[in-house]
Amino acid sequence: MKYSEKVMDHFNNPRNVGVIDQPSGVGTVGNARCGDIMRIYLDIDPDTKVIRDCKFKTFGCGAAVATSSMATELVKGKTIYEALKVTNQAVMEALDGLPPVKVHCSLLAEEAIHAALWDYAEKNGIVIEGLSKPKTDIHEGEAAVS
Ligand code: FES
Repeated sequence: MKYSEKVMDHFNNPRNVGVIDQPSGVGTVGNARCGDIMRIYLDIDPDTKVIRDCKFKTFGCGAAVATSSMATELVKGKTIYEALKVTNQAVMEALDGLPPVKVHCSLLAEEAIHAALWDYAEKNGIVIEGLSKPKTDIHEGEAAVS
C-alpha cells in the first residue's frame, strides 16, 4: 500500500497526541467498519469560540493516527463553526490522499471532533448550526481509551 509523504510524516511524528485536563468538550467514537476507537479533546475559548487546543488518543491504525494528527492541526485556531468545515475529505486532501481501503479511517477524526463539539454545545446549552448529533458517541467509561 502506498502512502503519501505527508501521511508518513504525520504517522511517524503525530501532532497533538494526548489529553486535555478539564476540556471544553470530549468526543469518543468507534469506527463501525473496523471497531477502532478515537477520542478527541477540545479546549475552546468561551468568549471567541476559538479552539485553543485539540488533542487526540486512538486505538486506530496508522492512517487513523495520520488523519487525526492532521485534523487536530487543521481545527486548532479555528472557531467552532469553521471547525465543522474540517471534513474527512478536507483532511485527506491536506494529506495528499489516502489509499481507498483506508478512507474509512479518516472518518474517525471528523466524527470525534463533531462528538466533542456536540459535548461542548450540550454542556453550554448552545446550538451549533450545522452540527448533528453524533451517531456513534461512546460515553465516558464505556471506551477503553484513557
Ligand atoms: Fe481502523 Fe484504520 S483500520 S481506523
